[in-house]
Amino acid sequence: MNTIRSFSFLVIHAVWVLGQTLIVREDKRAFAVLDPRGPFRNGSHAFEPTANVNLTPPYFQVFDPRFDAILGHNPTIRVIVENDTFAFAHEAPMWIKATDEVFFNGGRKVGRPVSVINLNDLKTSPTGLIDFHILPLSDDVQINNGGTLFRGDLLLVTTGNGSLPPSLIRVNPRPPFNDTIILNNFYGRQFNSLNDAKVHPLSNAIFFTDVTYGYKNGFRPAPLIPNQVYRFDADTGDVRAVADGFVQPNGIAFSPDGKTVYIADSGEAEGVLGGTDPTLPATIYAFDLMPETQAFANRRVFAFIDTGVPDGLTLDTQGNLYVGCGDGTQVFDAKGTLLGKVFLGVGSANMVFAGARRLVILADTKIYMAEIAAEGVNLNL
Ligand SMILES: *[C@@H]1O[C@H](CO)[C@@H](O)[C@H](O)[C@H]1NC(C)=O
Ligand SMILES: *[C@@H]1O[C@H](CO)[C@@H](O)[C@H](O)[C@H]1NC(C)=O
Ligand SMILES: *[C@@H]1O[C@H](CO)[C@@H](O)[C@H](O)[C@H]1NC(C)=O
Ligand SMILES: *[C@@H]1O[C@H](CO)[C@@H](O)[C@H](O)[C@H]1NC(C)=O
Repeated sequence: MNTIRSFSFLVIHAVWVLGQTLIVREDKRAFAVLDPRGPFRNGSHAFEPTANVNLTPPYFQVFDPRFDAILGHNPTIRVIVENDTFAFAHEAPMWIKATDEVFFNGGRKVGRPVSVINLNDLKTSPTGLIDFHILPLSDDVQINNGGTLFRGDLLLVTTGNGSLPPSLIRVNPRPPFNDTIILNNFYGRQFNSLNDAKVHPLSNAIFFTDVTYGYKNGFRPAPLIPNQVYRFDADTGDVRAVADGFVQPNGIAFSPDGKTVYIADSGEAEGVLGGTDPTLPATIYAFDLMPETQAFANRRVFAFIDTGVPDGLTLDTQGNLYVGCGDGTQVFDAKGTLLGKVFLGVGSANMVFAGARRLVILADTKIYMAEIAAEGVNLNL
């Protein structure tokens, strides 16, 4: 795919990379008071405080000078994969260091295929664009939503499909892409529609979230169990709930030291059957991980997202949190202060660091590469 590129596109692309200022600086004091007659916006619309900004997304918005250290000198952001007819890049980004490959899945309407790109292809691509390849996965994978790495394999989180249960599945990242289901029930009960997972950096236990989007999107039965977060020990088979009280516990991530866990509650988005309820959470919660039990304690609001809902989460080695949101990737410090955005002007469900200086951002019909100074925490556990 992506083999036919027009000449005009090449010219625009070059100007864009070489010529354009990519950083917009925002002063939070400048929009603390707006004209009482408006316009105001709702959370479905992106916020662009610099009214006469003369840039076409993507670009960086700096809301706090500390974002400059994250961006480093001469940060860049560009499209590396695109197909405007097809939402091929939605969720579950996973980077495998050894091969420099990034795996991810496509949108639900296209059956959630899992695909791969090889970042080495960027070195030889004359256009700067590379191709993706859909993996020939088995029918064990019934609608993939989330994913992370586990002991050298992809760990896919599936929502289930109709009466078929949600599951955690290890998938060989190399041909023949064979798989092994490692969990698909809680003591005989089905989960609702599993969403996302991360492996704890010290204990190597798998933590995963469960939501009712399968039901709210019309492809799973009515809720069967509370929407909550679970811990699974793949060695002993022990599975238990570690946190509840959410509307839709979605993305999950651990701080680099493994002591803090973040959960994105995307409850404001009620699925295709329910629309949007702006009084429900679009909120990231932080918790301490209890040292003995790894239950979640000391729940607090970490950040309420200004545009859309928070979805996928990841951290850099300095403990800053990167959030897939309605306007791109938003970046917060460990105290919950918005530092800046990789502003796409469209939603991004998730992103993953591909080692130092490279943040790969999924935006359905495009994949972006942001080259910045930050480095991601090691997820290859
Ligand atoms: C986009 O995807 C469609 C459907 O898979 C395919 O037919 C088309 O060739 C792709 N276009 C590009 C530019 O890759
Ligand atoms: C948000 O505002 C736009 C118009 O600016 C409107 O079309 C949309 O329906 C609004 N969404 C909600 C959830 O109110
Ligand atoms: C879900 O199940 C239905 C009915 O068996 C099937 O037609 C469909 O392809 C499945 N969807 C996916 C994404 O696997
Ligand atoms: C894939 O197959 C190989 C060879 O049988 C096996 O060693 C490996 O564990 C399998 N991987 C998964 C994830 O099932």
